[in-house]
Amino acid sequence: MSPSVLGFHYLLPEQGENLGQVTGKLLRTLYPLKIYLKLENLQPIGSFKIRGACNALARHDPSKLSSDGVYTASAGNFAQGLAWSAQQRTIPCKILAPEDAPITKLEAIQRLGGHVTKIPYDDWWNVIMKHEYPGMKGSFIHPVCEEDVIAGNGTIGLEIYEDLPDVDVVICPYGGGGLITGVASAVKALKPDIKVYATEVDTACPLRSSFDLGKPTSCNFIRSFVDGMGGKSILPEMWPLVKNLVEDSIVVTLQEVTNSIKLLAERNHVIAEGAGAATVAAALCEESERKLHGNIVCVISGGNIDTDKLIQTLEGVIPKME
Ligand SMILES: Cc1ncc(COP(=O)(O)O)c(C=O)c1O
Repeated sequence: MSPSVLGFHYLLPEQGENLGQVTGKLLRTLYPLKIYLKLENLQPIGSFKIRGACNALARHDPSKLSSDGVYTASAGNFAQGLAWSAQQRTIPCKILAPEDAPITKLEAIQRLGGHVTKIPYDDWWNVIMKHEYPGMKGSFIHPVCEEDVIAGNGTIGLEIYEDLPDVDVVICPYGGGGLITGVASAVKALKPDIKVYATEVDTACPLRSSFDLGKPTSCNFIRSFVDGMGGKSILPEMWPLVKNLVEDSIVVTLQEVTNSIKLLAERNHVIAEGAGAATVAAALCEESERKLHGNIVCVISGGNIDTDKLIQTLEGVIPKME
């Protein structure tokens, strides 16, 4: 029997070594917080998404997979994970990407043999909500809600605890909720008093709105360069898990995310994309100064940022969407 996270099982044979160990202290701050980084940007595809994708394919019965292979809807990181794992198994892999997905991510998917179809953002969001795309052949692998994807993400939590048993707080970016659900269920199983916070940007923060309302809801939504996070609404199937595992959502601004990308590059020589750096923005914001205590781990969930956007952030400018 394979080990389990929240009763879901994980097998990550290809991923092998733990590349993103919790490393160094980020900064000396004026308050007694110690900030550690879990560097998922160092994974072979540049983000944590390789864990869930590999686990989902490893646990699929190959005889039950469609002869048309697998497909998913992703802004780019889960797509790379799935394409990477499908390539290892010589399974065809198709990707539905929103029209404005970052070029770096789309090119990487193609290099890994994934076949990309760009669709309007609203149609793409419908696939995320409905778990299918009319007319598309193949087995659909959901980038967030599948148990095996969540369990794969949970291995991040197991590694955090292994590397830093004194951890008090973990901060994860919130997109659909698969990352934080996996991480929180793993760390809380090992150390129940760990606090797990989500972070969202103020241009797309449905989790904060849902916490405020006490039920899943949508939010005023503006697309931004922080493409890995923030949907129009909470995925209703994730709410029962998230509301029991996550303390709260710390909302940060696009300027704070921009500043954190710059800070990570300058002080730690870490290249993070918006969603990855948002956790550092959350740890450093005023709200956290009052709320958080002890050893904080920020999950730097990915580093796949277009070069022109990276340059703008290093100049302190919030990258614009075309
Ligand atoms: C870099 C990065 N961080 C965080 C997330 C959010 O993960 P989840 O959708 O599982 O909440 C994503 C999702 O695509 C991502 O690409």
